[in-house]
Amino acid sequence: MTNQLSIGILGAGRVGTAIGRQAIRAGHEVRIATGKPADQIQLLTEVIVPGAQAVEREDLRGSDIIIVAVPLHKYRSIDTEVLAGHVVIDTMNYWSPVDGVLKEFESGPSTSEVIADFFGDVQLVKTLNHIGYGDLEVDAHPAGVPERRALALAADDDDAKQLVAAFIDSLGYDAVDAGPLAAGQALENGTDIFNGRHTAGQMRALLDQCQRVLTNV
Ligand SMILES: NC(=O)c1ccc[n+]([C@@H]2O[C@H](COP(=O)([O-])OP(=O)(O)OC[C@H]3O[C@@H](n4cnc5c(N)ncnc54)[C@H](OP(=O)(O)O)[C@@H]3O)[C@@H](O)[C@H]2O)c1
Repeated sequence: MTNQLSIGILGAGRVGTAIGRQAIRAGHEVRIATGKPADQIQLLTEVIVPGAQAVEREDLRGSDIIIVAVPLHKYRSIDTEVLAGHVVIDTMNYWSPVDGVLKEFESGPSTSEVIADFFGDVQLVKTLNHIGYGDLEVDAHPAGVPERRALALAADDDDAKQLVAAFIDSLGYDAVDAGPLAAGQALENGTDIFNGRHTAGQMRALLDQCQRVLTNV
């Protein structure tokens, strides 16, 4: 198995708790925080993510990876000081019927590039946004199982990408490198990657196809 990692999760909703459960199964240490005091999510954490610890958000500092699982329209309320200096996974998607129309996400760069600018001093990795929270447990398989589902990851920092790829593998998925953070557009809401289940081979083919469209080849 992958070395045990300390995983901090910001957001104790559908996505944060589903990732937390899968991370506990994989043998990682999991701490969860929200915008509220820890005692307000302690019972929820004990019941929904047994083995994880509910903490104040400042106590996520020092985690090997911090996962942000907060609705995108609330990104400006995130305490970026907690994230500073960390490898951070951005699971957030833009969907205007839920998030409202946010002009910074309506066109242009990948949503994660906007988020990276806002977070500042973090190594941001976009992944885990293109799997339903309810699928995370049922689609997981050990490495080597034929037709194992793949998840793509986009990031500018190679070390961060390698660490997160090992984490994704430990959760039960093949990790496929999608390229730099800007290439994360290929995993966003409305894309083939977002809308389907793919093996590593299928994922690479879809990423190549996106690259060809972007470069007009
Ligand atoms: N639905 C899916 O299957 C799926 C899959 C992959 C990714 N996503 C994306 O994942 C993100 C989270 O979705 P979700 O369905 O898990 O949301 P959710 O169920 O509404 O949970 C959101 C969590 O974020 C916390 N939160 C809100 N503002 C915060 C802040 N400033 N600092 C810390 N915590 C904060 C909330 O707690 P408090 O308000 O109590 O602080 C709550 O625990 C969305 O962007 C979504 O698009 C969704």
